[in-house]
Amino acid sequence: MQVRIVHDTPVAVGTGALVVPVFSGEALAGAAADVNHLLDGAIADVLDSGEIKGKPYELALVHAKGKPFSRVLVVGLGERKNYEPGMLARYAGAAVRYLSRRNVSEIAFALPEQAKGAEAESASFVAEGAQAGTFETHIYQGKPEKPSVVKEAVILAGNLDAAELEQGLRRGLVLGEAVNFARRMAITPASDMTPTHLAAEAAKVAKETGLEIDVLDEARARAEGMGSFLSVAAGSAQPPKFIVLTYKGDPASKELLALVGKGITFDTGGISLKPPERMEEMKYDMSGGAGVIAAMGAIAKLKPKINVVGIVPATENMPGGKATKPGDIVKAMNGKTIEIINTDAEGRLILADGLCYAKKLGATKIVDTATLTGACVIALGHAATAAVGNNDAFLEQFLAAVKHSGERYWHMPLFEDYGKQMKSDIADLKNTGGRAAGTLTAAAFLSAFVDDATPWIHLDVAGTAYLESESAWQAKGPTGTPVRALVAFTEALAGAPAAHPNGVAAAK
Ligand code: BES
Ligand code: MN
Ligand code: ZN
Repeated sequence: MQVRIVHDTPVAVGTGALVVPVFSGEALAGAAADVNHLLDGAIADVLDSGEIKGKPYELALVHAKGKPFSRVLVVGLGERKNYEPGMLARYAGAAVRYLSRRNVSEIAFALPEQAKGAEAESASFVAEGAQAGTFETHIYQGKPEKPSVVKEAVILAGNLDAAELEQGLRRGLVLGEAVNFARRMAITPASDMTPTHLAAEAAKVAKETGLEIDVLDEARARAEGMGSFLSVAAGSAQPPKFIVLTYKGDPASKELLALVGKGITFDTGGISLKPPERMEEMKYDMSGGAGVIAAMGAIAKLKPKINVVGIVPATENMPGGKATKPGDIVKAMNGKTIEIINTDAEGRLILADGLCYAKKLGATKIVDTATLTGACVIALGHAATAAVGNNDAFLEQFLAAVKHSGERYWHMPLFEDYGKQMKSDIADLKNTGGRAAGTLTAAAFLSAFVDDATPWIHLDVAGTAYLESESAWQAKGPTGTPVRALVAFTEALAGAPAAHPNGVAAAK
């Protein structure tokens, strides 16, 4: 979808549908008031009749015969006092989804008065949300049930700073495209998104954006000592790929941020086979890795002043005659031995070598992300990603930077107790620690592959990378989490400019 800034006023714009925000519990203001006047009170009627109340992302369509715009889509933003710019992504996404289903191909967004002084972030959210709103799950349908038809969107600049809007728009489009790219990789069935396919997607991104790419095959991974990663691949007919993308935005600096993503392209559980119910969802078990690849592409386009390496160990987790068995002991790159108790706790095994390799490449800060534990869905549901780390200041910095990204993160503890649960009688570690605090024992396991002096954050996206239900602004299925946060945090670490989307500079 194309998104542009234009200088028309809402009442004069020629378009298929003019999208205007309304706040609940107050008189119409801004664009909604102007349009209401032109339409002899038709917008006020929608609210006065109780058809909608203006609650967040409530929608009502009003036809406007004889006016430059054919229709007005009224979108609720809730109470004015609760407004935050991040709501504009959902505002735009809801409008694009609603109008796409009604065959409207050109739309125009009016912005709320609060966009004044916050032009860049407002435009970024609208562009990102509009782009993300075009994502549909029907990619394998011959004749799609719900074709997406909004082709062109414009943002009405009015009296706003057009240069700032343009800057935000550009970022929002890059981010929205990255979100959809991650979603497309995630939703693709495992037969069409093997480790080899995932590495090819990464290579495509590298070619398009100038990122450096290195893909270690099994032989090289073995030579590096990645026995933990390779133990997960042992049962698979698909060759594993260890994907490394490098962005050098600050060549003079020795600082290097590593983003490490779990790339299990299908998780059967291995010999500790999962039950059949909902096993098909395990095609999403590479969501962390897809998020890292997509975020790296966005970072390469946005060019923040920082060095970043994206690392994605990719493999299937399959049973088979060559598969790793419970009781087997494997050795990770840092020499630590791991007793395999449950082959379904495979994510941590591939991340262990991912984290070691990040250090080998010189990482000074590390963020890993993975659909790691079902326990995370029990703890936080689908409402937030669990965030754990070895350095509270670094984690607080992360939480501040991503607060308005449109993704929610929640700080969980990493008490020493959890590490004790991961001790093995026969090896240095075991790969499961019992039912209690499953998300945090997994994090404790990972911490054994990061040295205390390197600030590290672990993000468990098991409950947030994909959803079973749709919302006004978002298709069901993959959400693109954690792409928004990885990009926003990278920008924040690079010292985003003052007027930067998300206001992250202030949070530093
Ligand atoms: N990929 C799963 C975690 C998962 C489960 C993600 C459900 C999304 C939804 C992971 O590899 C796994 O199987 N974890 C086990 C760990 C256990 C064996 C300690 C789990 O959560 O049951
Ligand atoms: Mn598993
Ligand atoms: Zn898994």
